Amino acid sequence: MKKILAAAVVNALMCSTALAVEVTYASGITGDGVRVFQELVKPWEEETGNKAVLVPMPSSTTDQFGQYRLWLAAGNKDIDLYQTDVIWAPQLADHFVDLSEVATDIAEQNFPSIIESQTVDGKLVALPLFTDAPALFYRKDLLEKHGEDVPETWEELTETAKRIQDAERAEGNKELWGYVWQANAYEGLTCNALELIKSYGGGQIVEPDGSISVNNEKAAAALNLAATWPGNISPEGVLAYKEEEARGVWQTGKAVFMRNWPYAYHLGNGEDSEVAGKFSVAPLPSGEKGGSSAATLGGWNVAVSKYSERQEAAISLATYLAGPEAQKRRALLASNLPTLEALYDDAEIAEQQPIIPQWKEVFMQAVPRPSAPTKSAYNEVSSKFWNAVHNTLSGKATAEENLEILELDLEEMKGSGW
Ligand code: GLC
Repeated sequence: MKKILAAAVVNALMCSTALAVEVTYASGITGDGVRVFQELVKPWEEETGNKAVLVPMPSSTTDQFGQYRLWLAAGNKDIDLYQTDVIWAPQLADHFVDLSEVATDIAEQNFPSIIESQTVDGKLVALPLFTDAPALFYRKDLLEKHGEDVPETWEELTETAKRIQDAERAEGNKELWGYVWQANAYEGLTCNALELIKSYGGGQIVEPDGSISVNNEKAAAALNLAATWPGNISPEGVLAYKEEEARGVWQTGKAVFMRNWPYAYHLGNGEDSEVAGKFSVAPLPSGEKGGSSAATLGGWNVAVSKYSERQEAAISLATYLAGPEAQKRRALLASNLPTLEALYDDAEIAEQQPIIPQWKEVFMQAVPRPSAPTKSAYNEVSSKFWNAVHNTLSGKATAEENLEILELDLEEMKGSGW
């Protein structure tokens, strides 16, 4: 009798877990990300009866990576899904479930290069949720008022920003700055500096064939120009800015230009934004007049932990979030760029978030960070790079000196096999 009762209890428990599984989802949060997450998972929760619990993380990708690496190395069972940066796949691949079989039709709807970026030794490590490529946000009203054009080169940006800043301050707009961007010592600075260097024809730090190219004159010229910005057209504090700090200054109307990712488009047009309706976006400036502009390729994916005890439900949530319904909702709610090609022809998206169809070309030509050629060493390579850049920007030696030291460090890392 006891046995039967015990079996019945176990059975009931199993049924109830089968009915309602709670999966945890770790993700960095920017802007109204908590609300967006809840909106996104709602249809999945209603359909499956399961629950998706957000584990909110700091918005810095570098901070997330540090924490996730520790959790995964310890085989953490508490987190079922991780929202992963496009650069992490080679480093974290071993800890995630292979999604290639469960997501064949989603994979086919994606841009092939994005699927490739999440594939490591034939294993699909994570499913793309959205891609990313930065924009130059500019204040239409201020440019018009001062008779200025959208700058085409970084030199022009420096000059235009300064002229408007000076003229506005003379009129009493004392807190206005010309240009806000991300110069904190973290992954975001790698993105800002890579695209700047690339636009000057200075390569992409480590080339796809593994050769270390970063110590060159063009790269140094690009960084030396950027070193004139803090305290001049950018606040001194920019050396500690990440995306959200730049957006904070921008949204209170205190900057003429901002470099940021498309998520800032929707937030900038939000009800609590002082710049709603007053700005537009353009591709980032180029190194030379008539030269080409460069944008660092970003993007976020969802991975299922190998240590999860709720893998089935976790996979179901991952495929839902990566699919067309959720990607469209995400595009409308957060102006994130879809990874599914068809959504670039979606009329509703084009009407509500015009940056999305406009940014198709920009992200398709975006420059990847060297995470593929440097494999498990990428984070260290990137941190050496952002430190060299940060030292340059904060006046600790010239770009030439810092890039020379960086090259030696990278050669050494490569020599010991990255
Ligand atoms: C954005 C990009 C991501 C990048 C990060 C840097 O979130 O999508 O790929 O690493 O910015 O701060």
